[in-house]
Amino acid sequence: MKEHRGRLTKDGIRIYEQADFAGMHAAGALAARILDTIAEHVFPGQTTGELDRLITQMVDEAGATSATIGYKGYQHASCISVNHVVCHGIPGDKRLKDGDILNIDVTVIVDGWYGDTSRMYVAGRLPRKAERLIQVTHDALFKGIEMVKPGNTFGDIGHAIQAYVESHRMSVVRDFCGHGLGRVFHAPPNVLHYGRPGTGAKLEEGMFFTIEPMVNLGRPETKTLADDWTAVTRDKSLSAQFEHSVGVTADGVEIFTLSPGGKFHPTYGS
Ligand code: MF3
Ligand code: CO
Ligand code: CO
Repeated sequence: MKEHRGRLTKDGIRIYEQADFAGMHAAGALAARILDTIAEHVFPGQTTGELDRLITQMVDEAGATSATIGYKGYQHASCISVNHVVCHGIPGDKRLKDGDILNIDVTVIVDGWYGDTSRMYVAGRLPRKAERLIQVTHDALFKGIEMVKPGNTFGDIGHAIQAYVESHRMSVVRDFCGHGLGRVFHAPPNVLHYGRPGTGAKLEEGMFFTIEPMVNLGRPETKTLADDWTAVTRDKSLSAQFEHSVGVTADGVEIFTLSPGGKFHPTYGS
């Protein structure tokens, strides 16, 4: 029997207990520390396969489990999405070039709790257009996080992200969304990164979910390649993504996947 905690809302969203926040913090901290540590290994000439090998090693050394190895047949400890890859890029032999931007997404399981986070990196020099895209995507995630408190709705989160991104003449990907998580990887609700204020389920203390907006410099449409994973922009425009796992508290939000080294943004701390 699968272990259940807390209770479900009428929308099927699990409400966790006070004590469960500690488990999420431990899982989130490991995922974030791995993303901090990988930063110095991102440079022109590096392969995404080697980055994934290092991530797999860090998960093992921490005595944790990768949530993605074996998930629906996926075989890697990370997704690495370069340039116009929107998400679910498969690590491999391809070498990074100067000016490539990439998202690295890691999900770990620590004592049964899931920590899911991703952020952007650059190999070598950051091109000006990519810098703008990364900044807007990062700030859009935090616009969404600012809406997280009891009484607000999931539509408030999506609207805040969409309005911010579109005010910068960029587009929000509709084909992928954030998700509830906790003792499972993907649970209700679907956390949309677009929407209308006041719509959707109401946020309650004890909800755990991700916010993970994908933003394109061009049009929002994506397509999935023949490998059945890699999602790319249809118009080949650059795409960026940042992801945090968060919990709703009595008066706001706790971010479980904050960078211990203050390196969440590629131009901070490094
Ligand atoms: N970590 C991704 C997310 O944010 C999911 C990756 S599933 C995989 O939800 F199988 F592609 F790894
Ligand atoms: Co996620
Ligand atoms: Co993720």
